[in-house]
Amino acid sequence: MASRVAIVTGASQGIGRSTAIRLARDFSSVVIVARNRENLDQVAIEVRRAGAEALVVDLDLSAPEAAQQVVDRTLAAFGKIDALLNIAGAVPQIDVFDMTDEQWERGFALKLHGARRLTMAAWASLKKTGGSVVLMSGNSALFPKAPYAAVGTINAAIVALAKAFSERGITDGVQVNSVLPGPVMTGRRRSYLEHWAPLHDMTVEEATEKFPAEAGIARYGTPEEIAGLMAFVVSPAAHWMTGSTLRMDGGEVKSV
Ligand SMILES: NC(=O)c1ccc[n+]([C@@H]2O[C@H](COP(=O)([O-])OP(=O)(O)OC[C@H]3O[C@@H](n4cnc5c(N)ncnc54)[C@H](OP(=O)(O)O)[C@@H]3O)[C@@H](O)[C@H]2O)c1
Repeated sequence: MASRVAIVTGASQGIGRSTAIRLARDFSSVVIVARNRENLDQVAIEVRRAGAEALVVDLDLSAPEAAQQVVDRTLAAFGKIDALLNIAGAVPQIDVFDMTDEQWERGFALKLHGARRLTMAAWASLKKTGGSVVLMSGNSALFPKAPYAAVGTINAAIVALAKAFSERGITDGVQVNSVLPGPVMTGRRRSYLEHWAPLHDMTVEEATEKFPAEAGIARYGTPEEIAGLMAFVVSPAAHWMTGSTLRMDGGEVKSV
């Protein structure tokens, strides 16, 4: 396999973890980024088992200096960057009338600005390799809801940001897309259901069972299914696809 280097953020659990392990089949080195060192060390074992070198970078991506540190450590270890998958996100799930300025800022700091800074810090390296960037959004960008207003707002901003980066990428030779999953069963989805259940007069167990039908889908997605889409988007087969907004949602969005 030719040497190819991917950075995956949010890789300590959920969709990011599955993506890092999936990319180990196509990339020679995978840099896994999040805060929880113990979880990242476990993911590193699985990445190596799947065939790639793994580098653990444990830091808080909402800190302004974090992006450059990720890029510096990647280049020191592997010398190049071919793909950057910005998956980390932890936007507070709070009603639009209850959310404080600090909570809004915390949501933007990680998911939007963390991804924006890392994309900028990696750009010169991505230009050299003709590389790929993915920014993780979510279906809520298309139907923001009052009880979780920041989630839809920030996901919509990410779609716009990816489009802006992709325009520069046309001249710089860097491919940029955003991905919008529907409901995928992860720790974050479980915490969403804990908010959703009392709003619908259900226990969390009832809500977990009934939510797919309420959302108009047959079942939850799996992190591995989204990881498969991620692997395709950053593969040579998809390299002419740029500036696109890719949904994988079990049919949750009903419009064309
Ligand atoms: N699950 C869904 O249904 C769904 C649907 C649409 C979109 N999404 C999006 O997909 C992405 C992944 O979601 P998920 O469901 O897999 O969530 P998850 O299981 O909660 O994983 C979130 C990841 O982000 C990392 N993270 C959180 N805060 C961080 C920080 N300050 N610095 C660095 N890393 C941080 C977490 O690691 P540490 O805690 O170790 O830092 C973890 O690896 C998110 O952007 C989410 O909005 C998910």
